[in-house]
Amino acid sequence: MSKNKELLWQSRFSLPFDRDALHYSSSVHVDKKLYHEDIKGSIAHVTMLAEEGIVSRDEAEQIITGLGEIEEELTSGALLPHWEDEDIHTVIENRLKEKIGATAGKLHSGRSRNDQVATDTRLYMRGQINELQEALHALLTVLVEKAETNCETIIFGYTHLQRAQPISAGHYYMAYFNMFNRDRQRLADLLKRVNISPLGAAAFAGSTLPLNPQRSAELLGFEDLFSNSIDAVSDRDIVIEFISACSMIMMHLSRFAEDLILWSSYEFGYLEISDAFATGSSLMPQKKNADIAELVRGKTGRVYGNLMAMLTIMKGLPLSYNRDMQEDKQPLFDSAETAVSSVRIFGKLLENTSLKKERLAKLTAEDLSLATEIAEYLVRKQIPFRDAHRITGKIVTWSLTSGVTLPNIPVETFREFSEAIEPDIYDCLKADVSVKSKKTHGSCSFDSVALQIREAKKTL
Ligand code: ARG
Repeated sequence: MSKNKELLWQSRFSLPFDRDALHYSSSVHVDKKLYHEDIKGSIAHVTMLAEEGIVSRDEAEQIITGLGEIEEELTSGALLPHWEDEDIHTVIENRLKEKIGATAGKLHSGRSRNDQVATDTRLYMRGQINELQEALHALLTVLVEKAETNCETIIFGYTHLQRAQPISAGHYYMAYFNMFNRDRQRLADLLKRVNISPLGAAAFAGSTLPLNPQRSAELLGFEDLFSNSIDAVSDRDIVIEFISACSMIMMHLSRFAEDLILWSSYEFGYLEISDAFATGSSLMPQKKNADIAELVRGKTGRVYGNLMAMLTIMKGLPLSYNRDMQEDKQPLFDSAETAVSSVRIFGKLLENTSLKKERLAKLTAEDLSLATEIAEYLVRKQIPFRDAHRITGKIVTWSLTSGVTLPNIPVETFREFSEAIEPDIYDCLKADVSVKSKKTHGSCSFDSVALQIREAKKTL
């Protein structure tokens, strides 16, 4: 049996930690991703220690130089983090000891891995929030472009996945704009709570050393400082909030994905996905599938799972730090990477889709989804809406049984249902007129969509 390396906390024990137990508890394979953040946090901490006279300038310099080299070694692969080192913090500290000897041990003055890992996590999240914001911005830009080029394209709007009323396709794209814009706002709000330094909370109770946590917070670009050391090391609310925000983004994407999948099917035939973003079948030569959209829809499930995992990990944990919290990284990393990559690829996919305008124009021209136009026409002729609705329902039934589409029903037939109907009925039985004549705030009319686009451009 090979001998364990010395663990940071080993001295109190008379037996070496069981190797299987160490293997089980090691998080190196997951948290090695945090090495940049860890080194950044250590450099800030030791800079502060030197400024406060807790370590000498010379010692701080040795530590900072060593940490810089270790960062390069980890990036180049010259140093491979090994599970025996328990976690990435220990990997780095042990390597520093190999490099500069006992002085390495001064880095940990007034710091515990509890505030260290909380700091690393916040730095990581700050980076991921920025990435996600950029990806969302790119997606919103594509949405505005799509809305602009399709402002006057008429599509069916749906409720219950049944054709409901004709709308501007731009209006549809702007609905998604609103959803992803809220996601951006959510992340911006979350960033305020993430951007708070926990460094200086030490294990959980603070330190007798004259630390200057304001200074290390400032060096790390945090906007604020923890106010309670117990909360500083125990709080994982931000992780839950972040995965929740990612879940919301994925939910929005998966709804959009579903529309693209349906609309690109032969049955709907509203939309073409570029060959560069479609997949085929290994057996059926004719197939053209929307796998990217399906994968986005599928990955949404994983992110929801991460949210449930994180809520469950934290449930019932006594204050303050507990080792359970080490399990936060896998769901956090997975959610961040899945959300960022999904938003990015979805923006590209969307750019590579086009609406089949001719087919849509043909389909929307004579469809029953114009029925609401007749009801509102009757209301304009002073018929109470409930009566107008009933009359129109009868007209729809007649259209269905006779096979005569609404715009082709003779005026005499219309008048058998209501004397209020006159030849001007045909003016409103056109999909584009229906869309154009919407008068209300935020409606699907071309003017309303143009206004939404102008406002959206201001926010971008
Ligand atoms: N690997 C640990 C984590 O990620 C670091 C903190 C360890 N603290 C402790 N008291 N064992 O949570």
